[in-house]
Order: sequence, then C-alpha cells, then structure tokens
Amino acid sequence: MAILFCSDSDPPDAWREVLVAAFPRMPFRVWPDPGRPEDIRYALVWRQPHGLLARLPNLKAVLVLGAGVDSVLDDPQIPDGVPVLRLVEAGMAAPMAEYALLGVLAFQRGLHTYLDRQHAVEWKREPWSPAADWPVGVMGLGVIGAAVARRLAQSGYPVAGWVREDRRIEAVEVFAGRERLGAFLARSRVVVNVLPLTPATRGILDAQAFACMPRGSYVINIGRGAHVADEDLVAALDAGRLGGAMLDVFREEPLPQSHAFWRHPKIVVTPHAAAPTVLEAAATQIVDNIARLERGEPPLGLVDRQRGY
Ligand code: GLV
Repeated sequence: MAILFCSDSDPPDAWREVLVAAFPRMPFRVWPDPGRPEDIRYALVWRQPHGLLARLPNLKAVLVLGAGVDSVLDDPQIPDGVPVLRLVEAGMAAPMAEYALLGVLAFQRGLHTYLDRQHAVEWKREPWSPAADWPVGVMGLGVIGAAVARRLAQSGYPVAGWVREDRRIEAVEVFAGRERLGAFLARSRVVVNVLPLTPATRGILDAQAFACMPRGSYVINIGRGAHVADEDLVAALDAGRLGGAMLDVFREEPLPQSHAFWRHPKIVVTPHAAAPTVLEAAATQIVDNIARLERGEPPLGLVDRQRGY
C-alpha cells in the first residue's frame, strides 16, 4: 500500500520527507511513476491528469493539496465511492485577508490614481473619505471568507457577506441566496470574491452583477478566475461602470501574455499569490487525515461532490 503524489505545482521532495516520516511503511510515489496502480491507497493531488484516479483500484481517499477543489473535481472519472478531502484553511486565511485589505486600502486611498500621477509628475491630492464610507462585500463566508470579512470589519469598513445558506458572523451583515445577490452588490463599494468555483458560481461576476454595483466601484478576485466573465469586466471598466479591479486568479494560469488584463490601466494583476500553501500546516492536515482513515475514523474536510466544495 502506497501514497501517490501528483501535482503540477507543489514540489514533491518536501512532501515526501513529511509523509515518509509519518508513514514509514507506505512508499511515497510521485506521478508520472506511480508503480503498480493497485498499490496506491491515498492520492495527494493538485490538477491531476483526468482519468488517473479511475485507474487506481484500491484508492481509499483523494487528498487535495489546496482549499479549492474545482481543478480536481473537473475530472469526470473520479470513482464515486472515494472521498475527496480538501485543505481547511491550512494557514491561508491570514494572507488572504491581508491581500483583501491591501486591495481595499489601495482603492480607498486612491493609490492607483497617485501611481498614475507620479508617472505624469503631477502633484494633486484626491479628497479623502473614511473607511466608514466604503462598504465592502465579501462573497463566500467559509473559513477563509469569514476571516477576510472579520479583518476588513476590524479595519473600520462596513462589511457584508454573501452566502448560499444563511449564517451569523459577528460585525458582518449576511445576505443569503441568489435572490439577495443584487441587494448585496448594490450596497458594496468594493466586492471581494472568495467563493468556491462550482457550477452555481461560475461566471457570477458578469455584466449583470457589475450593473448592480454602485458606479465606480471595485472588484477584488481571490476566488477563481472563472468566477469572472473576463470580457464583461473589461467592458465595465472601460465604460466607467467599475473603477478598478485587483485580480489574483485567472481562467488560464499563468495568465497568457496576450490577455487584455495585463495591460489594462485599471487592473492590477498578481500571479495567484494571495496566499501560498503553507507546507507545515497543509502537511499536518493531510497526515492527520490519513491517520484518521487508517484508524477507521471520519476524515476532516470532506467535499460534498454534488455541491462542489
Ligand atoms: C489555492 O488556490 C487553493 O485552492 O488552495
């Protein structure tokens, strides 16, 4: 019985060290050399090739090396009975909240305007408006979204959250369900997207959504690229409907060199860098989950495949 590691972005050596120390009797195999497929009991994956998991007859669990599982569930052949487990927070909430705060502060304080003025050697002040005048809306209030919302609320922004199912979070006004999305967007001067990507949320930030937001408002995307309708975003920025966007995630990553986002004057592009996977935290969770499964206990971070997160 062995562990298979398959990721197009995580370095296997550091993971090997942790997993071999925790489970010395389980060989650690790295894709594309899985050895005998029937040996593989646990698969640690990130953007695995489609069909790979279906070829492992004794697979007991799929452990995703990330919080968002869309790139793993994309594979239509994941065997039905095999649990898919995701990382829960794993050190990502604090850097995600920091990134959101960075973006909101930059918009509130006109940083992008001042950078343009510096390039033009222009000495000119913008009027200041306090954080209290900048209602921020956070889409998605899971562990990470809730941390983002709290951090912004602590910084003095009036914060609302949009969620599928109603919940309570201190100092955050919660809007639940599709029917409240328009009202949520209409009160948000900055929208921060932290949603999981599912069939229900794909393309949710489109022309219709931008039309609900106040004129000149801003978008920060730290969810997934496919939440945004790219052309609608560019059109809304060009028309002045939106004032700017800060984007960390893209439909295709790395963002193709020819993509309009790179050179758009109202868009800040960062390379999926809002929150790194913190190896220690992620590996501790994955080791704990394998140990639970080995003891016959329920694992943590079980993904509801129907729901998509
Ligand atoms: C990163 O994008 C993750 O889902 O962990």
